[in-house]
Amino acid sequence: MREQHVKICKGPGCKAWSSDRIARELMEIRDALDLNEIRVCRVPCMKVCGGGASVRVNSASKIVKLKGAEEVLGALGINEAAVVAQMT
Ligand code: FES
Repeated sequence: MREQHVKICKGPGCKAWSSDRIARELMEIRDALDLNEIRVCRVPCMKVCGGGASVRVNSASKIVKLKGAEEVLGALGINEAAVVAQMT
């Protein structure tokens, strides 16, 4: 897998949508599965507040609104079922 950069907003609007938890869970999954090519970065408000935590996967992609780390995995093209199987 090529290197992927995941920018997760740390602004107050996105914290209300659990952006801290999403970032923490994504980093836990990355570390547990040795997915070292995934870079998680916390960024200031992206000016698109509301409807979920703002996440941008790689710099060219649009900002998406997510409510859980599993949705980030989906945006990265990682099969959630495979992750669960490896972590159990
Ligand atoms: S607080 Fe996250 S986009 Fe504004």
